[in-house]
Amino acid sequence: MNHSLVFQKFRVAGIVIALIVTSLLGWEFLRNPDHAAEETPDDFQTTESPAARDWQLFLSDNFAGDEACQECHAEQFAAQQRSGHSRTITPMSLSSLAEQLEGDEYQDPRRSQQLQFVKQNEQFFVSTEDDGREVNFPVSWLLGSGTHAQTPVSIDPGSGMGVEFRWTWFAGRKEIGVTPDHERFDDYQPGSLECFGRPLGKTQARACMNCHATAVPPENVPASLDHFMANVGCERCHGPRKNHVKLAHLGRADEAPPAFTYDDPAEYMDRCAQCHRDETNTPSESTPGELARFQPLRMKQSRCYLESQKTMTCSTCHDPHDRVTNDRSHYQKSCLSCHSAPEQSHCKVEPSGDCVKCHMPAVEWYSGIKFHDHRIQIPPGDN
Ligand code: HEC
Ligand code: HEC
Ligand code: HEC
Ligand code: HEC
Ligand code: HEC
Ligand code: HEC
Ligand code: HEC
Repeated sequence: MNHSLVFQKFRVAGIVIALIVTSLLGWEFLRNPDHAAEETPDDFQTTESPAARDWQLFLSDNFAGDEACQECHAEQFAAQQRSGHSRTITPMSLSSLAEQLEGDEYQDPRRSQQLQFVKQNEQFFVSTEDDGREVNFPVSWLLGSGTHAQTPVSIDPGSGMGVEFRWTWFAGRKEIGVTPDHERFDDYQPGSLECFGRPLGKTQARACMNCHATAVPPENVPASLDHFMANVGCERCHGPRKNHVKLAHLGRADEAPPAFTYDDPAEYMDRCAQCHRDETNTPSESTPGELARFQPLRMKQSRCYLESQKTMTCSTCHDPHDRVTNDRSHYQKSCLSCHSAPEQSHCKVEPSGDCVKCHMPAVEWYSGIKFHDHRIQIPPGDN
C-alpha cells in the first residue's frame, strides 16, 4: 500500500484534527489580530462532509497505491523509490528537516525577524513575534525531495488558502535560507500572512499540490492532509490502476486497458509538461535560469527534437521511473545514437567528448541550484 494511504488510514486522524484546531487559530489570528489566539472556536466541525466521503470512496475504489505494484513490477517500483518523484510531499512533522530544526532559532538574513521552530503533539510550528505578540503557525507540508531544495507550505483546510514559507532548505548549502523569489516580501505588512511568507490563494495552493501529488481533492473537499495522495506515484502517470491489480491477480491483466499510453511522443511530452512545463504553462516573466528548469519547453525548441520526426521523448535519455544519472557516458550514447551515422551531423570540436558540458550546460537558477538546459544547441557565441 502507498505510504500516503497507510498514513491516511492509521496515523493521520489525530494529527489532522490537531492541525485543523491549531491552524484555525493561526489563520484566525492573522485574519483578525484582535482575537485571542488561545480560544477554541465553538463551531469547529470534525464530521466529514458528504463531498469528502465521496472523494475518499473514489480514491479507495480506483487507486491501488504504489506498494500494490511492487510484486509484479519490482523493477519499476525500485526505480521509483530512488526517484525524487516518490518524495515530492512529506508531512512536515514527519520530515527529517523537522527533526533537524526542532528547538532551533533562525534569524532571517533580510529582515529583523527571528523564528523559533517547535514540535509539539506531532505538529511542527514556526513561531515569531508580530506586531508585539507571539504568533504560532502550523507548518503542514514540506515540498521537494531535497535533491535541490525543500520548501514548506501550509494550507488552511477550511478556506483552502495557503502560505509558502519564507525559509527553504538548500541541499547544496546544507542550511535554510530565503525561499526563491521571496525578496519581494522583505518589507511586509504586520498581522498579514506575509509575516510568514508568500500568501497563496485557493487556486495557487492547489496548483502547487497538483504538481507534487498523485491525487488532489476537488475544491468542495477540505484541503487537509488525509484528502491528498501525496507524491508523484505510479498512478499519477498511469492513471488509477486498482482494477488492473484486481484483474492481474486473476491472470487477466490484459482486460484492464491502460488509462493512457506513452506510445505517441507528443502525448508523452504533454503529460510530463503538465508539471515540468512547456510553452503552454510557462510563466511569461521567467528568467533564463528559470527557463532551464522547464525541460519539455526547452527540449521542444531544440533542432534535435524538431528535426527527428518527433521521435524524441524524455525516455531517449532517461528512465522516467528512475533518478537522473550523472554518468555522462550514458548521455553520450544517446547523442551518438543520432549523431554517428554518415548522413547525420557530427561534432568537429570534440566528437568523443562530454557532449553535455558544451551542448546542455548547467545554468544557475537560484543560490547554487543548477539545471541542465534541455535546449540542445551550439554553444551561443560559437555559431
Ligand atoms: C498481479 C500482478 C500485477 C500487479 C499487482 C500490477 N500489475 Fe501492471 N501488469 C501486469 C501484467 C501481467 C501486465 C502485462 C499486461 C498485458 O500484457 O497487457 C501489466 C502491465 C502494466 C503496464 C503496461 C501496460 C499497461 O497496461 O499500461 C503498466 C503501465 C502497469 N502494468 C502498471 C501497473 C501499476 C501502476 C500497478 C500498481 C498500481 C500494477 N501495474 C500492478 C501485472 C500486474
Ligand atoms: C505531477 C507532476 C509531475 C509529472 C506529471 C511528472 N513529473 Fe517529473 N518531477 C516532478 C517533481 C515535483 C519533481 C521533483 C522531485 C523532487 O522533489 O526531487 C520531478 C522530478 C523529475 C525527475 C528527476 C528525478 C530524480 O530524482 O533525479 C525526472 C527525470 C522527471 N521528473 C521526469 C519526468 C518525466 C519523464 C515525466 C513524464 C513521463 C514526468 N517527470 C512527469 C513532477 C512531475
Ligand atoms: C506546474 C507545476 C508545479 C507547480 C505549480 C509547483 N511545482 Fe514545485 N516543482 C515542479 C517540478 C516539475 C519540479 C522539479 C524540477 C524543479 O526542481 O524545478 C519542482 C520542484 C520543486 C522543489 C525542489 C525539489 C528538488 O529538490 O528538486 C520545491 C521545493 C518545490 N518544487 C516547491 C513548490 C512549491 C512550494 C510550490 C507552490 C508554491 C510549487 N513547487 C509549485 C512542479 C511544480
Ligand atoms: C513520471 C511518470 C511515471 C511514473 C511516476 C511511473 N511511470 Fe511507469 N511508465 C512511464 C512512462 C513514460 C512509460 C513508458 C516508457 C517508455 O516508453 O520508455 C512507463 C512504462 C511503464 C511500464 C511498461 C514497461 C516499461 O518500463 O516500459 C510499466 C510496467 C510501468 N511503467 C509501471 C510503473 C509502476 C509500477 C510505477 C510505480 C512504481 C510507475 N510505472 C511509475 C511513466 C511513469
Ligand atoms: C533523436 C535523435 C537525436 C538525439 C538523441 C540527439 N540529436 Fe542532436 N540533432 C538531431 C537532429 C535531427 C539535428 C538537426 C539536423 C542535424 O544537424 O543533423 C540535431 C542537431 C544537433 C545540433 C545542432 C544544433 C543547432 O542548433 O544547430 C547539436 C549541437 C546537437 N544536435 C547535439 C546533440 C547532443 C549533444 C545530443 C545529446 C545530448 C543530441 N544532439 C541528441 C537529432 C538528435
Ligand atoms: C538528449 C538527452 C536528454 C533528453 C531527451 C532529456 N534529458 Fe533530462 N537530462 C539530460 C542530461 C544530460 C541531464 C544532466 C545529467 C547530469 O546531471 O549530469 C539531465 C537532467 C535532467 C533533470 C535533473 C535536473 C537537471 O537539469 O540537472 C531532470 C528533472 C530532467 N533531466 C528531466 C527531463 C525531462 C522531463 C525530459 C523530457 C522532457 C528530459 N529530461 C529529456 C539529458 C536529457
Ligand atoms: C568542448 C565543447 C564540445 C564538446 C565536448 C562537444 N561539442 Fe559538439 N560542438 C561544439 C561546438 C563549439 C560546435 C560548433 C562548431 C561549429 O560551429 O562548427 C559543435 C557542434 C556540434 C554539432 C553540429 C555540427 C554541425 O555541423 O552542424 C553536433 C551535432 C555536435 N556538436 C554534437 C556533439 C556530440 C554528440 C558531442 C559528444 C559526443 C559533442 N558535440 C561534444 C562543442 C562541443
